[in-house]
Amino acid sequence: MPEAVLEARGVTAGYVPDLPILHEVSLVAHPAQITLIIGPNGAGKSTLIKAIAGLLPVSAGQITFGGADITHIRTDQLAARGIAYVPQTDNIFRSLTIRQNLDLALRRAGAGAPARLARLLEQFPALADKQRDKAGTLSGGQRQFLAIAMALATAPKLILMDEPSAGLSPKAAQEVLEHARTLTRSGVSILLVEQNVNQALRLADHCFILAEGRNQIDGPADALLNNKVVGEIYLGARRMGAA
Ligand SMILES: Nc1ncnc2c1ncn2[C@@H]1O[C@H](COP(=O)(O)OP(=O)(O)OP(=O)(O)O)[C@@H](O)[C@H]1O
Ligand SMILES: [Mg+2]
Repeated sequence: MPEAVLEARGVTAGYVPDLPILHEVSLVAHPAQITLIIGPNGAGKSTLIKAIAGLLPVSAGQITFGGADITHIRTDQLAARGIAYVPQTDNIFRSLTIRQNLDLALRRAGAGAPARLARLLEQFPALADKQRDKAGTLSGGQRQFLAIAMALATAPKLILMDEPSAGLSPKAAQEVLEHARTLTRSGVSILLVEQNVNQALRLADHCFILAEGRNQIDGPADALLNNKVVGEIYLGARRMGAA
């Protein structure tokens, strides 16, 4: 197995001092893989992504990216280092056009911006056709593609995606997830939170399950697909340590 692209070790973090949501959570993501995080509502999946993205104070533990400590690095600096974050909600500017959204995302690309824009429009033909339309007029699936395109505008090595298929039709959800797989073929690593558990497990390489802000089990995604314990964790019937 090649060296990890991202590693979280014993991360404790939350929104309010002295009230941790994550309790010593650890995970590892490998290059050009989809690393999946699943777990019941309120498990701390988004909180973990936000802690990695530098949006929340980490009170204990360490996060490394390509071997470098990024535990207390701000979000904008993480973008410069190659980490892009696609939030669960409000991940595009609806009142701006598609082109304006992309231009905003490309603002740090400097002289490389036109070539990068051309490449993005090639990758997302549906967006290319609608550049002048307001992003709010896009379908749910197209909005997620725009959010992903905006993440790609920063030429990231790692993309943190929080429930990109939420609220989409099964077909659109599958398209978004399959696109994530396509991205890994070009060397990008993806840390993916999903509630479409079966669809995501079929696609991902490795999966970590969280519940109540703690690690439960993890393993190769295909091995967890039919694992009885996974269902039990979702139903709250079993916790690590209480099994
Ligand atoms: N901004 C916030 N301020 C304080 N507490 C929060 C905030 N956002 C989330 N929480 C709390 O943190 C816990 C974990 O929430 P989180 O959003 O990480 O869960 P999740 O696993 O992403 O759930 P979902 O599947 O519903 O997206 C919950 O108890 C939630 O109430
Ligand atoms: Mg969430």
